[in-house]
Amino acid sequence: MSTATRPTSANPKKILVLGATSGIAEATCRVWASEGASLFLVGRNPEKLAAVAGDLRTRGASFVDTQVADLDDASKHPELLAHAINSLTGMDIALLAHGVLGDQPRAEQDFHEAAQILLTNLLAPVSLLTWLANYCVQRRSGTLAVLSSVAGDRGRKSNYVYGSSKAGLSAFLGGLRNRVDREGVTVTNIRPGPVKTAMTASMKGSHKFADVDKVARTIAKAIDAKTDNLYVPFQWQPIMFVIRHIPERVFKKLNL
Ligand SMILES: NC(=O)c1ccc[n+]([C@@H]2O[C@H](COP(=O)([O-])OP(=O)(O)OC[C@H]3O[C@@H](n4cnc5c(N)ncnc54)[C@H](OP(=O)(O)O)[C@@H]3O)[C@@H](O)[C@H]2O)c1
Repeated sequence: MSTATRPTSANPKKILVLGATSGIAEATCRVWASEGASLFLVGRNPEKLAAVAGDLRTRGASFVDTQVADLDDASKHPELLAHAINSLTGMDIALLAHGVLGDQPRAEQDFHEAAQILLTNLLAPVSLLTWLANYCVQRRSGTLAVLSSVAGDRGRKSNYVYGSSKAGLSAFLGGLRNRVDREGVTVTNIRPGPVKTAMTASMKGSHKFADVDKVARTIAKAIDAKTDNLYVPFQWQPIMFVIRHIPERVFKKLNL
């Protein structure tokens, strides 16, 4: 599906957004649209994707094109990414935002649920990032910004399958950065704490979670600054430092 509008600003950032209907991605795109960016949006829900694209056009994006895709299907990634970059006539930034929380109690009983979480949150990003990193290395430029999670910093009983998908993703991003940074490519690992979006709407205490627009502004700034690792909101960095260092003999008895 192509719903492109033509570029208008002189030298806009060219940004590919995978999982563009995510609450965090959408809010970050609103920041970029207000700066006149060119955006290529990928999402699996055609109605939501069209609504997001329409909104970003009215907010000042100089170019918006879209593609409907289920990102679990890695066989389609090369064609999808080549098409997106062709449509944008290049790429400065890719934001990978798609993800699922999954059903932890079900995943404890049913391997298929665990496998689905790992497919969407880890295997699909590994496929997308492998292609995108090689594209950026060839051009010696580009930023790959990826939404991992504080949940990946230590496995907890309440969400260790989701957490392990994000731990794998964070380890992959660290290794990828170690490979491509010297080639002029930035890898930004974004670890949000709990944020108010559709993903967390049914969680206890979700009204106290971080505001998505504030989180988005911090993410956009960190990407501009070519930050390696971002905890957002910032207090999650010291919190996770403490959680990572709790001795296992104590940690295993906690209800986290
Ligand atoms: N919100 C938080 O508290 C929080 C904290 C830490 C990390 N994160 C991470 O931040 C990212 C964005 O989360 P969010 O809070 O913005 O959640 P969200 O609003 O629920 O967005 C998740 C997005 O992923 C899309 N998606 C899921 N599977 C997909 C697939 N196979 N193909 C294409 N799109 C797919 C969903 O599409 P549909 O709308 O079609 O389902 C949805 O747009 C996720 O990776 C999440 O793990 C979130």
